[in-house]
Amino acid sequence: MSTSPEPGRSPHDVGEVRPVRRAVCPGSFDPVTNGHLDIIERAAHLYDEVVVAVFVNQSKSSLFSVEERREMLLEATAAYGNVSIDTFHGLVVDYCRHHGIPVIVKGLRAVSDFDYELQMAQMNRGLAGVDTLFMPTNPEYSFLASSLVKEIAKWGGDVSSLVPANVLKRLTERAASAE
Ligand code: PNS
Repeated sequence: MSTSPEPGRSPHDVGEVRPVRRAVCPGSFDPVTNGHLDIIERAAHLYDEVVVAVFVNQSKSSLFSVEERREMLLEATAAYGNVSIDTFHGLVVDYCRHHGIPVIVKGLRAVSDFDYELQMAQMNRGLAGVDTLFMPTNPEYSFLASSLVKEIAKWGGDVSSLVPANVLKRLTERAASAE
C-alpha cells in the first residue's frame, strides 16, 4: 500500500493536525474606517481567525463609547466569517497571552507611523514573544485617520468614501445631535 501524500501536499503534511492560526488587530477604532477594514479583510485572508480588539483607554477622550465602537465593527465585518470583535484594557500582549494569539497585525500608512509602531512591536516581542506583522495600507487610504474623519464629519464635510455606511450614519446622527 502506498503512503504517498496527495498531489500538492508535502510528506510532512500526512496525518498532521495544523494548529489554528490566530491574529489580533488592536486599535481604538473611534470609529472604524475603510482603512481599518482593508487591513482587517487582508488579515482575515492570511489567518484562520482574526480578533479585532477595541482598546478601552480611560485616559483618551473618544467620540463613541466602547460599546458603540464594538457594534460598528460588528456590523462592518459581518461578512467575514473568521473575524470576531472583542474589547480589552491593559496591555495588548496580556490579551494575546490570555487568548493564545501569537501575532499582532498593524497597518502602516506612512513612514511617519513606522518609528512608533516599530518601538511598540519590539517592546511587545520583548515582553511576551508576541510578533507584529506590518501591512502597508492601501495607498488609497494612506492619509486616512479616525481623528480626521471625526473632524471633517463634525463640520459637515463629506466622509462617505472614508467610512462604511453604518459608521457614516452614526457620524451624521452624532453631528446632528451636537448642533
Ligand atoms: O488605534 P490606535 O489608537 O492607534 O491603537 C493603539 C493601540 C490600542 C493598538 C495601542 O495603543 C495599544 O496596543 N495599547 C494597549 C496598551 C499596550 O499594550 N501598549 C503598548 C506597550 S509597548
